[in-house]
Amino acid sequence: MQQPVRIAPSILSSDFARLGDEVRAVSEAGADYIHIDVMDGHFVPNITIGPDVVKAIRPCSELPFDVHLMIAPVDAYVEAFADAGADIITAHVEAGVHVHRTLQLIKSCGVKAGVSLNPGTPAEAVDNLIHMVDLILVMSVNPGFGGQSFIASQLDKVRRIRSRIDQSGRDIDLELDGGMNAELAPEAIAAGADVLVAGSATFKDGPARYAENIRLLRGQG
Ligand code: DX5
Ligand code: ZN
Repeated sequence: MQQPVRIAPSILSSDFARLGDEVRAVSEAGADYIHIDVMDGHFVPNITIGPDVVKAIRPCSELPFDVHLMIAPVDAYVEAFADAGADIITAHVEAGVHVHRTLQLIKSCGVKAGVSLNPGTPAEAVDNLIHMVDLILVMSVNPGFGGQSFIASQLDKVRRIRSRIDQSGRDIDLELDGGMNAELAPEAIAAGADVLVAGSATFKDGPARYAENIRLLRGQG
């Protein structure tokens, strides 16, 4: 079943020089998850955050840490992110030939397991994984950078995955990530997304605006 929408600010768009304060500020501003984009310069053309940074910001928020791994290989790093304080660890189906094994490994670390699909990957890719995941992340940009434009064709994929989740009867978050803003949010929610990642749309205009930015992203006008 689709849950009330939750907002997951991507700290990739925050001020890295003040990262702890930024995590505190969005938590106090009404965020639901802290979305942490991990990039390796190999699976995606950018390098961002490792487990030590996750550990350093863990005391700054009580919200679930939603760790989005855009790395390949994945398995060697799962335990380090779980130990650093991740609550949900998401791996891409495109990151290796053994995503099923990766999801088993994530679950064996005692955290929630998510699976992510790039824009070019069809909804069917989740069919043999849906029984074992807690979150499905649909990328609405090509992963690698914040601030890109929303790829509208991904809404149809969200609809397809929503019907699969509802058929499964399982409690699975359907998260949409990339190019989100307050104008697109109602359409994304109507398509079936119930977690919206928002980097630039959350962090734009500085801390005094975070609460209002998050409120607008909920589709509350
Ligand atoms: C892209 C990341 C996204 C991104 C979102 O590779 O997975 O989480 O940072 O940033 P915006 O909302 O600015 O597109
Ligand atoms: Zn992300």
